[in-house]
Amino acid sequence: NWTTGNVIEEQVEAIRELVGDKRAICGLSGGVDSAVAAALVQKAIGSQLTCVYVDHGLMRKGETEQVEKDFVAATGVQLKVVDAEERFLKALAGVSDPEEKRKIIGREFIRVFEQAQAEIIADEGPAVEFLVQGTLYPDVVESGGGTGTANIKSHHNVGGLPEDLEFKLIEPLRKLFKDEVRMVGQELGLPEEIVQRQPFPGPGLGIRIVGEVTKERLDLLREADAIAREELTAAGLDRDIWQCPVVLLADVRSVGVQGDGRTYGHPIVLRPVSSEDAMTADWSRLPYDVLSRISTRITNEVKDVNRVVLDVTSKPPGTIEWE
Ligand code: XMP
Repeated sequence: NWTTGNVIEEQVEAIRELVGDKRAICGLSGGVDSAVAAALVQKAIGSQLTCVYVDHGLMRKGETEQVEKDFVAATGVQLKVVDAEERFLKALAGVSDPEEKRKIIGREFIRVFEQAQAEIIADEGPAVEFLVQGTLYPDVVESGGGTGTANIKSHHNVGGLPEDLEFKLIEPLRKLFKDEVRMVGQELGLPEEIVQRQPFPGPGLGIRIVGEVTKERLDLLREADAIAREELTAAGLDRDIWQCPVVLLADVRSVGVQGDGRTYGHPIVLRPVSSEDAMTADWSRLPYDVLSRISTRITNEVKDVNRVVLDVTSKPPGTIEWE
């Protein structure tokens, strides 16, 4: 008989037994999954958990501040922030292939954690043996790890892990769907803004730039994404849509006219979807006036963008993310 209380109790007990007097670290991504996983493990082992937030430079506008302030305020968790932007950009330089990007980001993520682990170990506390991950049931299934279904994409927190991984994994959400994770988070006392946060992929904006990932392109996409999120929130649509990836087609240019001149800029794709669990999705029928405001603002305010297009593909055949 499934209740959030049972899940929490079961997991807390199992995690306590598993970790013993050792320590664990947990990567915070800013998303619901890692936040709930961290809060759950913190409930089990308290100060034996240290959270690590890797700022890989692929985050959206304001996201780092949200983790540093809001999550810490809500949980009192021990947090170490690592600024790794340069490292990730260097590793991604010249890479356009989506799977390659995902593998690089996944690999660098683990390496940065290993460095953070080394630094935490150096403080002479008990050994750090465990890595907490907010892997959900759909992640497990889609990576072929759960039911033997074919591998669709290597999710950074399941596939793409390096061979020389040094941690034992704790994945307390491995059997749960997203809505169940939100209920668990609520039961754990996390604030509404964190529990109801829309999903955002671990590889961040790195897989929302079709083409090579550069700092300049990231800044541009961050601006466009912030505008779309602002307008969707202002229209009261956050709870109606599952998520709305904003994608930059960096390798595509089209002709436009702005002011009194010809432009040759990049398109931005809006990908609003409705879904129950991200396994399948439908494109959201957003009101035209909201789409119109987003389009006008993005083309006016974001440099080098002269076109906004709407993705009207369901999943399947399209995945939610473009890469
Ligand atoms: P797709 O694109 O496979 O996305 O339809 C399904 C859901 O998963 C999110 N997503 C990820 N989440 N690491 C994550 O933690 C990843 O590598 C990753 N790739 C996709 C996506 O945003 C959507 O909610």
